[in-house]
Amino acid sequence: MPAKINLQLAVGPLRGDGYHDIVSVFHAVSLFDEVTVRYADRLGVAVSGEGAESVPAGQANLAVRAAAALAKATGLRGQAARLRIGIRKRIPVAAGLAGGSADAAGALVACNELWGTGLTQAALGEIGATLGSDVPFSLLGGTAVGIGRGEQLTRALVTGNYHWVLAFGVSGLATPDVYAACDRLRAARPGRTEDAGADDVPAPALSTELMAALRSGDPAAVGPLLSNDLQPAALSLQPLLRRALAAGKEHGALGAIVSGSGPTCAFLAGGAQEASELAVGITGAGVCRAVVQVSGPVPGASLISDGMAN
Ligand code: C5P
Repeated sequence: MPAKINLQLAVGPLRGDGYHDIVSVFHAVSLFDEVTVRYADRLGVAVSGEGAESVPAGQANLAVRAAAALAKATGLRGQAARLRIGIRKRIPVAAGLAGGSADAAGALVACNELWGTGLTQAALGEIGATLGSDVPFSLLGGTAVGIGRGEQLTRALVTGNYHWVLAFGVSGLATPDVYAACDRLRAARPGRTEDAGADDVPAPALSTELMAALRSGDPAAVGPLLSNDLQPAALSLQPLLRRALAAGKEHGALGAIVSGSGPTCAFLAGGAQEASELAVGITGAGVCRAVVQVSGPVPGASLISDGMAN
């Protein structure tokens, strides 16, 4: 299951249910977690790889919750308690890359196969949306526009393959903290009246310029149009990210942006060679924990062999 970055993240007002209405252009990139499921006597979860120590290995694990939700929806409640789930992580935790959602999506696809429940991707997406706003996109992959809280998806028309450098932050950021910081920054805006509620935050709108640039397939056109309304909030919580973004621009990135709620920074390169050079430059600047090169769009959660999912 792939990581995602947001090519646009427009955040609207805080809703009554604690979520924000958003418009997101999701883009799946070639950094994958792997989820395997097998029958077992009782529930077991083994997490390995990147950030494994901070992933819960019990009922709070998103893959476990996904298996339980699928079992419940298909009348197989007992099955979820007889699973051995393996999660091989490459997507960092709390990074703005939807790593937890990827694991939930993987468990849905893998258990759907193991149990022969035969649900469509759309039906899995509906179950996934109850687990996290980004799970439906982790199932779909590619490039898609998400509205609502990000779970209502439409595929986007994109030409070509885009080369990215991802710079991982030194520590993670919790998504609710970043949304809350965004609300605080908005409330403190100069000229905002005391009694102005969430109503004065405009509804989020899709960038038609970005969509046209994605159709054209020209990374030089896409780069300057990347945008993220959560970026000021992420920068306020981790000021070091400013230096990471500046280092990317200095080393030739066509676009530089915090991914989702951060702290991962995503840098767009003109091609594979340019991405290699950019990765070397950003690594040398010493402003992040690790740097990887990825490309997108890539497909969503898919099976790699019987009973196993990627
Ligand atoms: O849906 P998910 O569990 O990923 O969301 C985590 C948190 O992020 C939510 O509890 C909420 O605080 C925030 N969020 C939001 N608006 C969204 C998506 C997430 O405020 N559209």
